Amino acid sequence: MIKPGDAQKQGRAYDCWLAYRPLENAVADQYRTICKKVAVAGQSAIMESAVDELKRGLKGILGVEPEVLYAKSDTRALFIGSESGVELTADDMHALGDEGFILKTCKDAILIAGKTDRGVLYGTFAFLRCLQVGIKPEDLSRMENPAAGIRMINHWDNLDGSIERGYAGNSIFFRDNQFIADKSRVRDYARLLSSVGINGISINNVNVHARETRLITRELLPEVAELAGIFRNYGISVYLSVNYSSPIELGGLSTADPLDKAVQDWWCKKAAEIYEYIPDLGGFLVKADSEFRPGPFTYGRTHDQGANMLAKALEPFGGIVIWRCFVYNCRQDWRDTKTDRANAAYDHFMPLDGKFMDNVVLQIKNGPMDFQVREPVSPLFGGLTKTNQILELQITQEYTGQQKHVCFLIPQWKEVLDFETWSNGPGSTVKKLVCGKVYPQKHCGFAAVSNIGDNANWTGHVLAQANLYGYGRLTWNPDLSSEAIAEEWIRLTFSNDPEIIGTISDILLKSWLTYEKYTSPLGIGWMINPNHHYGPNVDGYEYSPWGTYHRADWRAIGVDRTVARGTGFAGRYHKPNADMYEDMDKCPEELLLFFHRVAYRHRLKSGKTLIQHIYDTHFEGVEEVEQFREKWLSLEGKIDRERFESVLERLDIQLKDAREWRDVVNSYFYRKSGIPDEKGRTIY
Ligand code: GCU
Repeated sequence: MIKPGDAQKQGRAYDCWLAYRPLENAVADQYRTICKKVAVAGQSAIMESAVDELKRGLKGILGVEPEVLYAKSDTRALFIGSESGVELTADDMHALGDEGFILKTCKDAILIAGKTDRGVLYGTFAFLRCLQVGIKPEDLSRMENPAAGIRMINHWDNLDGSIERGYAGNSIFFRDNQFIADKSRVRDYARLLSSVGINGISINNVNVHARETRLITRELLPEVAELAGIFRNYGISVYLSVNYSSPIELGGLSTADPLDKAVQDWWCKKAAEIYEYIPDLGGFLVKADSEFRPGPFTYGRTHDQGANMLAKALEPFGGIVIWRCFVYNCRQDWRDTKTDRANAAYDHFMPLDGKFMDNVVLQIKNGPMDFQVREPVSPLFGGLTKTNQILELQITQEYTGQQKHVCFLIPQWKEVLDFETWSNGPGSTVKKLVCGKVYPQKHCGFAAVSNIGDNANWTGHVLAQANLYGYGRLTWNPDLSSEAIAEEWIRLTFSNDPEIIGTISDILLKSWLTYEKYTSPLGIGWMINPNHHYGPNVDGYEYSPWGTYHRADWRAIGVDRTVARGTGFAGRYHKPNADMYEDMDKCPEELLLFFHRVAYRHRLKSGKTLIQHIYDTHFEGVEEVEQFREKWLSLEGKIDRERFESVLERLDIQLKDAREWRDVVNSYFYRKSGIPDEKGRTIY
């Protein structure tokens, strides 16, 4: 009998970048002679995961089933081939961090070693990557340590199986208010995550509803513990999103005031209970005082008081509190042009810098608004100098095409990571800040909202797998280029054939800018349908309480966020960024409408007027999607039919919807401004 999950797991797309396809060339022969025997030093569940993966990979790529021997040793390593020849030196051990790995080779041996079993697991995945892309044994040697300690995925999954902002089916953890009994898919997910270095996962939505509030009760903790066990074998710690009002909802208290002794005691007891079930729980993720979620503001308290109270409860168990900075007034009056949502997180959290316990980490969205296709970097990066912090990205494509559109997000994230904040002079980039290289931090790193669901191919759009892959790779090494990540992903997922690599990377690398072209222009954002956030609706949020306005009239568009005349947001940055954003002539043009109110007839650096730029980019965007489709068609017969057709279907949807976007946006601005397109194209 076929169980529901089984059918879902068939097909090429399910394996993602761990497909382990046969490699047929001279390099493969070289490896075949080496990889007949594996000696395992150090035994543990994680080491067993590494051995399993190695066997799976060698079988798939080389058709080799190695003999596996276990050696008694304090070292954590896999010796492939001869046991002598490659050795770990004291220098190697010194250079290795806790999660780092080393690959060393000689003529007839390969060593994969780490200081910990996690390191060996990461080294094993790295070795298999090298093997699949055909790197020669003599070129394998490398040592790598991850850039930061927190490399996390956030799930917005609800117990009923739905996923907030999920575009690839339902939850792989929950269904009908229960945990899904068959955990094989979770195990495969753990493999995917750990293969790219992810070491933390929060399993439930940051909006913690009634049923999910109960995840921290004895009723559901055994089930959480079972999931944690699966992730643990892959070096991944589980975190829970918790409801700030739990003492009321679960404990029967009349308050959740962080300064109330009974509330503090309740959380301390609760933490002890949770850690009975999951001794290595990573900690809590908290969305407080944001979009109707309860928090310390309800009791007239501040966020440091709120977070520290939870941190004290988790401290004895080594847990951390990840506290989100996504705090703003979502009941704003659209008529009020002084209040600016962009200022909110900065204004709430800057005064608290240095006041959080050292097991609290602030989680800061990349931009000041909400994962738009283009935003400036949040000024909290570089603003906060005495607070642990992680960068929050969104892999799920809520505002970037909902996995119907191809939108490779790595180039967007690279811009964020490479952004120079000037916080501590030159070199204070976001990536250095969140890796603790500018100011010392006990905990720092990355989090991102997952894009996976129970669709056969995990991400709905096959090409969206590259975003999950790339996110993980960047958390390990934020210096990797978009090009390198795209190529690596294609080689692992599809083929080493240069034509296939060229075609797919061309589509991926252009796709974010293409998406931007036919959606909202020059950093203004939104212009989408309320609630579900898909499809063009220029005024969708214009007269709403959500703080997301473009303020277009017949003459101009954009929000004046200057200090001189506007909301003052530009002044939240360090100099020279503040001056750059303040001055319309120096402001990077892709963010022009975010910072300035600009007349349609204003000339851009290209010499075009703003309105003509809007028309042109919207036409170009659609043309580029047409080209993506043409390019994809050229792969027919060169990749498997299943994935070929599934991507083609999505491209068809993208093309149809991109045309809609183009026509709605162009018509809107034509009607507002009355200025015709210089090229006389059809605008309605
Ligand atoms: C966005 C998103 C919400 C989500 C929120 C958050 O606003 O639309 O669904 O809950 O971000 O990050 O908390």
